[in-house]
Amino acid sequence: MKIMVVGGGGREHAIIKKLKENKNAEKIYALPGNGGIAADAECVSIKAADIPAIVDFAKTNGIDYAVVAPDDPLVLGCVDELEKEGIPCFGPKANAAIIEGSKVFSKNLMKKYGIPTAEYAVFSDAEEAVKYVETAPVPTVIKADGLALGKGVIIAQTREEAKEAIKEIMQDKKFGKSGDNIVIEEFLTGPEVSVLSFTDGETVVPMISSMDHKRALDGDKGLNTGGMGTIAPNPYYTEEVAEECMQKIFLPTIKAMKQEGREFRGCLYFGLMITPDGPKVIEYNCRFGDPETQVVLPLLESDLLEIMQAVTNGTLKETQVNFSKKSACCVILASKGYPVSYQSGFELTLPECDENSEIFVAGAKKDGDKLLSAGGRVLGVTATADTLEEAVKRAYALSDKVGFENGFCRRDIGARALAIGGNK
Ligand code: AMP
Ligand code: GLY
Repeated sequence: MKIMVVGGGGREHAIIKKLKENKNAEKIYALPGNGGIAADAECVSIKAADIPAIVDFAKTNGIDYAVVAPDDPLVLGCVDELEKEGIPCFGPKANAAIIEGSKVFSKNLMKKYGIPTAEYAVFSDAEEAVKYVETAPVPTVIKADGLALGKGVIIAQTREEAKEAIKEIMQDKKFGKSGDNIVIEEFLTGPEVSVLSFTDGETVVPMISSMDHKRALDGDKGLNTGGMGTIAPNPYYTEEVAEECMQKIFLPTIKAMKQEGREFRGCLYFGLMITPDGPKVIEYNCRFGDPETQVVLPLLESDLLEIMQAVTNGTLKETQVNFSKKSACCVILASKGYPVSYQSGFELTLPECDENSEIFVAGAKKDGDKLLSAGGRVLGVTATADTLEEAVKRAYALSDKVGFENGFCRRDIGARALAIGGNK
């Protein structure tokens, strides 16, 4: 079977390594992949959002199955175009990917179907939005409607900050057309949990829960990033919380999408906050999370390709999806200065991994035999173990062996989870 994975970060590396465990995966292409992924797949220099080139490549190379991992090609209809050519895909069509592509859509969906989320109001007019925040409680949360490279959410501590955010998004067009509409939302509190799920539109199977660490610096300080590390499972996600999420959030969301004629097939990511009033949805993503995937998939005991194909074929109900009882920790090594400005081109030397560890390459390019850093987030060092404490220790021990002169990492990935007792 010839498989094509669209995307080129650490998440895609983790997906590719897992797909390779299936003997039928005789050839895997990554579009565009990266210098590190090249060890596990043939990288083809086609950008993940260049849908005509992706479709053309799939047709000329006899691709049997496609996995579309990043948000932009999904929202732009990559799966629709590939399916028109008869190529089976893992990932939602554009009319379902809108659950991430438009926050106005997802908030209105939750309201219509009674799915717990923060109170909100939608604005297409900056003056009205400003008038609204003059009396709204602070902190308040301002969100650009569309995709904004993960930067479209501003938590305003004061009304002045809120007004400034409205101006930047709606008038200065900091995120382009994504800011034509905004959502202003109630500020919620509580620990956050990421739950990725497989769904074929009827059945939803949550994967093991995880916790992201979004801020750049230790102690949750510094700027928001794409994610500086993850652990799984998330100790705040107890069996009781899981059951409540299933009944009040997961099943109602899948049903709602179906009822709207927007059946979701693929990985639906629930970004949750466990508030004093129970779990609420902070955001939906129409894809695997990054770097959540780098801790979730190493704990998957079942065959990823079989599960993905069951999602595509609508047979998820009959498919085994088992996770190990172990824990995992992924430490991200980023370029100094990330997420603001950083330099690339530093040599990376990767230590040997054992059966309990893996290094996923997020941003690197090859230069002859050498591997050079290329991007903000560069490597994801993952270790698994019987306890979270041990997984964290192993992930740091391995990341300390990486040669990367310009790299830095947070030293406290997993600390919050361990403080409440980890998973044991
Ligand atoms: P996002 O870019 O959608 O992942 O949001 C970034 C972060 O903003 C989330 O992980 C939360 O920590 C925070 N956030 C988003 N919405 C809210 C909210 N309504 N209340 C409190 N924090 C929020
Ligand atoms: N780690 C957060 C995301 O993938 O959106």
